[in-house]
Amino acid sequence: MKTTDLTDEQKAALRRDALFYVIPHFASNESLAHGPKIFVRGEGCYVYDLDGNKYFDSFATLLTTVCGHTRPEVTEAVHEQMQTLEFFPNYGDAFTVPLVELARKLAQVMPGELAVSFFVNSGSEANESALKMARQYHVACGQPHRYKVIARQGSYHATTLGGISVTGLPWFREYFEPLIPGGIFAPPARDHERPAGVSSAEYGAQCLRQLEELIRFESPETISAMIMDPLPGSNSGYPLPPEGYLAGVRRLCDQYGIILIFDEVQTGFGKTGKWFFCEHDGVTPDVMTIGKGFTGGFIPLGAAVTTARIAEVFRRGPGTEFRSGSTYGGHTVACAATLANLDLIEREGLVAHAAEMGGYFQERFAALRRKHAVINDVRGIGLLWAVVLDGKGVALGSRVSDWCYRQGMILRNNGEILVIAPSLIITRDEAEWVVELMDRAITAAIEEAAS
Ligand SMILES: Cc1ncc(COP(=O)(O)O)c(C=O)c1O
Repeated sequence: MKTTDLTDEQKAALRRDALFYVIPHFASNESLAHGPKIFVRGEGCYVYDLDGNKYFDSFATLLTTVCGHTRPEVTEAVHEQMQTLEFFPNYGDAFTVPLVELARKLAQVMPGELAVSFFVNSGSEANESALKMARQYHVACGQPHRYKVIARQGSYHATTLGGISVTGLPWFREYFEPLIPGGIFAPPARDHERPAGVSSAEYGAQCLRQLEELIRFESPETISAMIMDPLPGSNSGYPLPPEGYLAGVRRLCDQYGIILIFDEVQTGFGKTGKWFFCEHDGVTPDVMTIGKGFTGGFIPLGAAVTTARIAEVFRRGPGTEFRSGSTYGGHTVACAATLANLDLIEREGLVAHAAEMGGYFQERFAALRRKHAVINDVRGIGLLWAVVLDGKGVALGSRVSDWCYRQGMILRNNGEILVIAPSLIITRDEAEWVVELMDRAITAAIEEAAS
């Protein structure tokens, strides 16, 4: 039955059963108290709910739909693959054609020497795999005592137990302590937090000194990897790193024999106006983790991509193989969908488009900031933006977000951080509409809070 044919009774039953039979991911009981939102259809940057209401999704379906919803090019690729071979696992000595083609494609688009892929189902698994890769690499190189992982305060990496052990946000960790030992945390290094009068480069050098002190304090020969999001995500509102910081981290990791992992699960595939954020600084990690926009939201897929130098230790003979895997990692249809998604990004010039739209948003948000005293900061790059509110003790973020929803826009807020991270296909008219709606929403939220 089509959802458009559903009776009011059937819709009510769906809403009731959603609340009873499902535990949503990172549920919000506060929002659920107003009833579940059930979506039935998508097209371009828009989704439609059970009642046929249309919403512009300024969060690109949890940062996934880089090319928008229901692209026929992807649907056709999926259909064709489904009819040919829906699935064969990438297990032991078995591969499929789309999987090999995708690995080849990644070697082309990834920066530096990153060329060898380990495919998984999600960003979390990609990070778990990268951490395991680093550990096994050191074991293979005769340094099994390297088990610690440097992570950063304020960064999110995964929902799994290993992943939250290196996630620097207490909210994700608090019910699950004790976590996996060896997670040590460096300060976040956010350029907007640098003290007045200190240049970005000086601040970057200060952060690097702190990082080196931490490495020395922990004993470098016990450290396996450093995992970091070169541009932290929506949870912390896209804080840009200070000048020279990424290059300095690369130097320290090389100096102390630490594997550098960049988590670009959220920032990869054009969202920052380059294929990957680390390309803005010309710095390449030893392992890059990817997910979300990689597959464009069509079918789950993630990967930990490394260099031939690191992969070589897993190819030395029986017993040296990378000891990790899952049934569906690198699913055949997911690979076919992802190839079609990457093809769309290239053919439609979406990376350059994101860079251009980034300039537009920067200008428009700067003007918004001048207009509304409650806007405390605007940060971002490309199509990843955070508008940070400070209502001097009055919570405005949820009010803005709820108002936008009532007007037909999904706007993610993390407390007072408003996140604008739309699909890369967003047009200039749509961007203008988004900013105008936010402008009105902020005014409405202030009025509502005062009434
Ligand atoms: C930076 C970053 N890393 C990893 C993840 C985990 O990815 P997934 O939710 O696909 O497991 C996320 C998800 O939000 C993320 O933003």
